[in-house]
Amino acid sequence: MEIISNPTQVDIKRAAQALKDGHLVAFPTETVYGLGADATNEKAVSRIYSVKGRPTDHPLIVHISSINQLGKWAVDIPEYAIKLAKEFWPGPMTLILSRSNLAKNFITGSQESIGLRVPSNPIALALLSQFENLGGAGVAAPSANKFGAVSTTTSEAVYEELGQVFSEQDLILNGGSCEIGIESTIIDCTQDYPTILRPGYITLDMVEVATELITNPKAGTQKTKTSGQFKSHYSPAAEVVLGELPGPGEGFIALQYVPTPEGSIRLASPKSTTEFAQTIYGALRLGDSMSLQKIAVLLPEDNGLGVALKDRLDKAVIKPI
Ligand code: TXA
Ligand code: MG
Repeated sequence: MEIISNPTQVDIKRAAQALKDGHLVAFPTETVYGLGADATNEKAVSRIYSVKGRPTDHPLIVHISSINQLGKWAVDIPEYAIKLAKEFWPGPMTLILSRSNLAKNFITGSQESIGLRVPSNPIALALLSQFENLGGAGVAAPSANKFGAVSTTTSEAVYEELGQVFSEQDLILNGGSCEIGIESTIIDCTQDYPTILRPGYITLDMVEVATELITNPKAGTQKTKTSGQFKSHYSPAAEVVLGELPGPGEGFIALQYVPTPEGSIRLASPKSTTEFAQTIYGALRLGDSMSLQKIAVLLPEDNGLGVALKDRLDKAVIKPI
């Protein structure tokens, strides 16, 4: 495994070739780091599952370089999904659509739908374009972390999380810290109305304005398998508590204006909700690296990006069984 920092176009071309040859490439996106493999190569995709320790019925998002690639992977695309794609791609949004024949069971977890995203991070976009230039159709990429664990927002965190299980020819592209810091908004577009399956930077209000539709009120009741529907996820080794102040020797994450209770360990002091999202996963990882038993988190207001933060932290609180 090799880490390439500040990759040039030549490095990115090499990484695209590595994908084409069936290797794994971890790369930055504006949300979190992705663990990429050729989405049409069953063997390469099966390595994603084994490296992450992820159940194989759990579908992967396919990343493409532009809206022009949508038709390869999806069929019967509703008009409102096109509106969303035009409005928010490249960007932190994943659309769930009816799959084409290209999207095999090993990508979709045997579901009839496929998750698609055009990321905006320039390294990610260049990698996807180069991969398509080599004849590739799309890059399957879950968050680059062990299943159920905290997502990674730096290449150092990817290395810590997965370095041990990578093989010699796998690559990590180092593009610094992720701009947004939490995973994309996932929108189910397989019904008459959009349904948000996982909240993110693109909010419900933004979806409703862009589509001129009310989102499906039955959110969370469909049978699709999404992280959002697993109770425990994004979970560090430390116990996470919400809305409580920490005791001595415990970790603390809160907005900057909240003072640190005496004897506790401040892990992050973001100035805004945006900064909270950017720093949360790094702060949870820092707590684990210090072997803290408990981390207390005071979340910002539950609106806008705050909705997504609450969704992730509510799941971080629950320990896997
Ligand atoms: O921001 C992101 O979305 C990052 C970056 C790397 O793009 N990716 C990411 O992937 O968070 P992952 O695999 O960690 O989470 C994607 C979620 C999974 O919970 C999966 O179940 C859901 O998307 N998903 C994928 N395809 C789906 C489908 N066809 N129907 C329902 N959910 C789907
Ligand atoms: Mg994930």
